[in-house]
Amino acid sequence: MKLVCVVLLLLCFYSFCNVSSTFDAFQEDIIDKKCLLKKYTHHSCNKVFCQPWQRCIDGVCTCKLPYQCPKNGTSVCSTNGKSYPTYCHQKSFECLHPEAKFLNNGTCMAEGKFSVSLNYNNTHSEGIVEVKLVNQDKKMFICKNSWSIREANVACFDLGFQQGAFATQGRFNFPEDLQINSTECLHVHCRGFETSLAECTFTKRRTKMYQGLASVVCYRQGTDAPTNKSFQCVNGKNISQKKACDGVDDCGDQSDELCCKGCRRKGFLCKSGVCIPRQHRCNGEVDCITGEDEVKCEEETEILTTDMDAERKRIRTLLPKLSCGVKRNVHARRKRVVGGKLARIGDFPWQVAIRDDGKITCGGIYIGGCWILTAAHCVRATRIRHYQIWTSLLDWITPNSEIMVEKVDKVIVHENYNGATYQNDIALVKVKNHDSQKECELSNSIPACIPWSPYLFQPNDRCIISGWGREKDNQRVYSLRWGEVYLIGNCSKFYPNRYYEKEMECAGTNDGSIDACKGDSGGPLVCEDVNNVTYIWGIVSWGENCGKPEFPGVYTKVANYFEWISSHVGRSSVSQYNI
Ligand code: ARG
Repeated sequence: MKLVCVVLLLLCFYSFCNVSSTFDAFQEDIIDKKCLLKKYTHHSCNKVFCQPWQRCIDGVCTCKLPYQCPKNGTSVCSTNGKSYPTYCHQKSFECLHPEAKFLNNGTCMAEGKFSVSLNYNNTHSEGIVEVKLVNQDKKMFICKNSWSIREANVACFDLGFQQGAFATQGRFNFPEDLQINSTECLHVHCRGFETSLAECTFTKRRTKMYQGLASVVCYRQGTDAPTNKSFQCVNGKNISQKKACDGVDDCGDQSDELCCKGCRRKGFLCKSGVCIPRQHRCNGEVDCITGEDEVKCEEETEILTTDMDAERKRIRTLLPKLSCGVKRNVHARRKRVVGGKLARIGDFPWQVAIRDDGKITCGGIYIGGCWILTAAHCVRATRIRHYQIWTSLLDWITPNSEIMVEKVDKVIVHENYNGATYQNDIALVKVKNHDSQKECELSNSIPACIPWSPYLFQPNDRCIISGWGREKDNQRVYSLRWGEVYLIGNCSKFYPNRYYEKEMECAGTNDGSIDACKGDSGGPLVCEDVNNVTYIWGIVSWGENCGKPEFPGVYTKVANYFEWISSHVGRSSVSQYNI
């Protein structure tokens, strides 16, 4: 009998161990540990869009100044007693002065203030939630069934707990003297970015008390010690590891959803490695920076309410939008560089050729205004007078009528370009403006978009290279050719000690048959997003041989140079979003 017991116990123990180890293996799989070191939060615009009252600078969402907000909208009152012309104006002011929170829609009224309190408990950090709405004179409860960690976090932020909520419920003694049978409670809905519950949408419902009232325990430093089953948020809060990558922002700073290789049931995985709530798929607002949460949606959603969330969405649509990366005449590519195909007019409206003393030496990419992007090893500031930029060129033996020839005004080579290692192989060429009153007009050209985040495209994504470079057998090429290549991760295995991951990108095909070659340098490696917008992802830089397997082409990783480019050409001419 004793023996059986021991055996049973052992068995139990054994199976328990097994279960927990597969569980852990799953955890390991879904979270990208290396990415966690970057400490991304809801303010990291490499991973998420900034709010319309912020702009993305150097990877961080930074407060806009109120005057940078779109002008139209209705006024909003802040807790500092001041009225602002729009919600965006108020939020950008609050962004700079966090104590001035949103109070109500419309101008400030003498009486009737919004307030939140936690009651029926003797600590200030937890209790049953009661709110007083602006035009109501008594405090009201919130229904438990509308209360999630999102709302709980906002309630705690509102009360000054910077890490949000520890738990969405607590055990609190309900006072006997309340009429238990039928009390009204409010439904509340927040998006999670709010700093006050006043910004969330409240609706009135009659709910039976037994369904429960919302309560909260706000997070205080040292509330719980981290264990091997907990996930540490960037804001210092510890949450259960099971809550990371589930689409729900449990941390309150989104840090549990930004480094994911997969998502749990309730989440939708963006290509950029971010889990968003499943309900946000096809909700009419783009959440993934890569845009795929709003494609292949059955029908258009129409916003009917006038809540602050709808107002934020409306402001988003009013922000200036850059026009880039969209071709005029997209004719279906014929089904059928090294191993490439012939380009037709309009296929690569951003492709330019750089001529040096009559010879085409390099390619380049039109990025808007008077600006061409190319490789540093292609140009020298001292040779400006020898250069010409040819746009809309297809074949340089039999020129087409669309060709335009521009002189060069300025060459800016990256200050840290290293000719020995090809690090920072990037340069800007400014073409001469014919009419100094106006912006440059390269009439047949269309700029390619500059990627603002290194997460817009991923290894194995299919992209396109183009140029007038040599063929594999070193044969000369006179007409513009293009080919499909795939982005390659982990390229140091092909080029040990020569590949710098942050600054370079590899692309090619398994058999090596498609590649850039001598003469393609400075030209584009472009990738299209889900909405067919073209980004200049790489600049042809170097490679061992041409078109040999195991020796992929190496490109300058343009996303790494967004700040460098915008510092020279002006922010507004390259910022797709978040200007
Ligand atoms: N540096 C070369 C040029 O000047 C480009 C080489 C690209 N080579 C390659 N195998 N992808 O044109």
